[in-house]
Amino acid sequence: MRNARAAALTAASVLLAGCGRRDGPPAPDPDAVALGRGVYNQYCAGCHGANGEGAADWDTPNVAGELPAPPHDSTGHTWKHSDRMLYHIVLQGWRDPFNKTERLTMPAFQGVLSPLEARAVITYLKTLWSAEQRRFQFQESQDEPFPGVAADAGAALKR
Ligand code: HEC
Repeated sequence: MRNARAAALTAASVLLAGCGRRDGPPAPDPDAVALGRGVYNQYCAGCHGANGEGAADWDTPNVAGELPAPPHDSTGHTWKHSDRMLYHIVLQGWRDPFNKTERLTMPAFQGVLSPLEARAVITYLKTLWSAEQRRFQFQESQDEPFPGVAADAGAALKR
């Protein structure tokens, strides 16, 4: 009996190791998702939409020659960026190089959001993507994890 249980446990850990980092992302940490949802609603939804649907006509420059806020759900392209890139965009801001103006149309949240909040809001955005997009973005982030977080530690910290 004890042996059977030990064998079952070993089998389970081999299985767990088998579906390791290379295959797919770990389930998102519910606490991070909850924190991130709050951050999103407070700071991001006004431009990116209550459900991450983006501004109307987001892929067409407006009269000022600036691109409106894109969606963060599966219809957008947020999922194509690694964790490090997304973290950079959120804290340092961003503008499309083809915008006619010089200003950061995506405002910088450095000093507004803590590193924890910045990571949490990105974790929340991941819940808006398809499984395929999440897997792609997870692979992209293997070599570009959140700054200061090793890829392995990131998985352990339940990003
Ligand atoms: C004042 C409006 C505004 C607010 C508020 C805002 N954004 Fe943005 N965001 C934009 C615009 C506009 C862009 C597109 C910039 C460009 O490409 O020219 C953008 C782009 C982005 C991108 C890049 C998406 C991609 O696919 O390239 C990310 C990620 C992002 N925002 C995350 C956030 C998060 C997270 C918040 C809240 C903490 C937030 N934004 C708040 C306007 C905003």
